[in-house]
Amino acid sequence: MKAKILVAYGTRAGSTAEVADAIGKKLAQGGVAVDVKPVKSLNNLNGYSAVVLGSAVRAGKILPEVTDFVKAHKEELRKLPVAYFVAGMTLREDTPEKRKIVDAYLDPLRAEVAPVDAGLFAGKMDYSKLGFFEKIIIKNMIKTPEGDLRNWPEINNWAEKLLPKLVDGKK
Ligand SMILES: Cc1cc2nc3c(=O)[nH]c(=O)nc-3n(C[C@H](O)[C@H](O)[C@H](O)COP(=O)(O)O)c2cc1C
Repeated sequence: MKAKILVAYGTRAGSTAEVADAIGKKLAQGGVAVDVKPVKSLNNLNGYSAVVLGSAVRAGKILPEVTDFVKAHKEELRKLPVAYFVAGMTLREDTPEKRKIVDAYLDPLRAEVAPVDAGLFAGKMDYSKLGFFEKIIIKNMIKTPEGDLRNWPEINNWAEKLLPKLVDGKK
């Protein structure tokens, strides 16, 4: 089968969609066909030879639509090379401890389908994109500062190294 890779993502404020786009562009530069889509828009995996699934984080969890998608399609996903990525503000401090915390956000997905790789990235916090209650929680309780901490060279580098694992990494 000719390689066709799906990059699917879950987002609330839009920044993870841009990470997914960057990953999709980098994979496509390697000469494969790539679709980048919100996970909510997908009903099946027909025609894809590999899948990259990414999510924003809310309150210590990746978004439910991403977990639900993996659960719903685990039989098909187990036959394909699958990679996960997560973008959250915990990694605004890139320490081994924080990496461990963020890596664990992916455990519910790993429990369903083992990935060939997992990308752990810092995300973006933009108060203007938050709902009323989210804004109160973030500004007054969690006190996460605003900032776009997405490290594009790191994201591109991950995608570049990932490509051979998606193309040759048959399970
Ligand atoms: C209410 C709320 C809770 C959050 N909780 C976490 C969290 O537990 N861990 C984390 O790493 N990031 C957390 N974040 C940060 C987002 O995951 C991060 O800003 C992400 O890049 C946003 O992606 P999006 O723009 O695609 O929604 C939280 C953000 C909000 C608004």
